[in-house]
This record gives sequence, structure tokens and C-alpha cells, in this order.
Amino acid sequence: MKITILTLFPNMFSGFISESIIKRAIERKLVTIEIVNIRDFSEYNNQQVDDTPYGGGAGMVLMMDPLVKALKSVKTEDSITVLLTPTGVTWKQSLAQEYAKKSHIILICGHYEGVDERILNYVDAEISIGDFILTGGEIPAMAIADSLIRLIDGVIKKESSEEETFSHDLFDYPTYTKPAVYDGYAVPDVLLSGNHEKIRLWREEMARKKTEERRPDLLNKEG
Ligand SMILES: C[S@@+](CC[C@H](N)C(=O)[O-])C[C@H]1O[C@@H](n2cnc3c(N)ncnc32)[C@H](O)[C@@H]1O
Repeated sequence: MKITILTLFPNMFSGFISESIIKRAIERKLVTIEIVNIRDFSEYNNQQVDDTPYGGGAGMVLMMDPLVKALKSVKTEDSITVLLTPTGVTWKQSLAQEYAKKSHIILICGHYEGVDERILNYVDAEISIGDFILTGGEIPAMAIADSLIRLIDGVIKKESSEEETFSHDLFDYPTYTKPAVYDGYAVPDVLLSGNHEKIRLWREEMARKKTEERRPDLLNKEG
């Protein structure tokens, strides 16, 4: 899989691509991450990329030309182009599973007041990461890229991703590690029993119970 991110702030991604699981996935060539600076495609004076909104109002709006030129420089027949916007469809695990099958995903990060609305003629999807406003699309791009990369075969152990919260419209089961008692708080006995079948049933029950308590809508969907 290749993920291309169009942004005005490429440096924001340096930590993201150089740590932990994402770093290892890149090193092992399981994913390619391409960061493209939209400003490099501006042919305006001083590499201008934004301007005031027609009709007046607050803030600056990203202009079409640098953005479309940046997009055309990376887009192929196999690309799917996504605009990150708070007015898009909310990202969730089932969408991540669908997008993880694509070979090339382009994520466009808006900034300031947003992007000239005519960009919608050039994108395949509009995605939000939730009902809140961020300064720019960079954090949403990282969140989406991260959730996609961990679904690529070989990035994390298959059992881990299959049991994770939301993979089957269920929360993950509770996990514990050493020591068995911490500050008077003990690990449930069953986990120390060595009985794998009992542990499996307990985990199943705990996952269902927690989902029922906190997100019954997920279970209803499953049934
Ligand atoms: C400050 S926001 C623009 C908000 C816009 N004026 C509005 O009220 O809908 C700037 C950029 O951040 C990104 N952004 C902000 N919140 C987001 C969210 N919840 N999901 C995805 N992208 C978001 C988008 O790319 C957006 O163009």
C-alpha cells in the first residue's frame, strides 16, 4: 500500500514516520508513505497557497491551483483521493478495513478556514475523524494512515488485529500484565489458571459485557 499525504506542513509527519510500528512497516517496505508539500506546486508570487474567501468572512482558504497541481503529480489510475474535512463521513474501523484493500490512497489536508469547495470535483471521498474542529488535516491524516497501516498483513500479529475493539463490532477483552497484585488490585484468577478454554470464555464474556454496557448499538448491529 502507498499513502500519499498532501499538506502545507510536511514537518508535522517526521515523528509519525520515524517511530515504532509505522517506522518498522516502512523499513520492511510493507507501506510507502509519500509526503508532498502543496506549496511546492504554487506558481503564484511568494509561493502563495491561500487567499481570502469570496463574499467575505474570516480566515484564509486554500486555493485550487497549487492543490490540484500537487494532486495531479501523484494521482494514478489506482489512486483513491480523500479530502479530510469535518463535514465528511466519520472514519471508523469498517471503513479502515475497506480502504486497507486499496493500493494507493491520497489524503488531502486542509488548513486555515479550509479548502476551496471546488476541490470536491477532484476527490473520491470526504472523511472526518469526528465531530470536532482541528487546526488542519494533518492529525486526521496520521490517524487514518495509522489505522490503515496496522491492517496491512505482516505489520502486527494477525491475532492482535482480529481481536481488537471494533473488528467484530465488539470491544476487545480486558488485558493485564505483571505483577499479579498491584497496590492491592489483583488480576482476575481465571487468567492465572492456565486453563485456556476457561480464559477464552471469560474474555469473550468480558468483551460482550463491556460492549453491552458502553456501546449496545454495536451489538444490535451485529445481531
Ligand atoms: C480549521 S479546519 C476548517 C473548518 C471549517 N471552516 C469548518 O468549519 O468546517 C481546517 C482543516 O482541518 C481539517 N480538519 C479539521 N477538523 C477535522 C476533522 N474533524 N476531520 C477531518 N479533518 C478535519 C480539514 O482538512 C480542514 O480543512
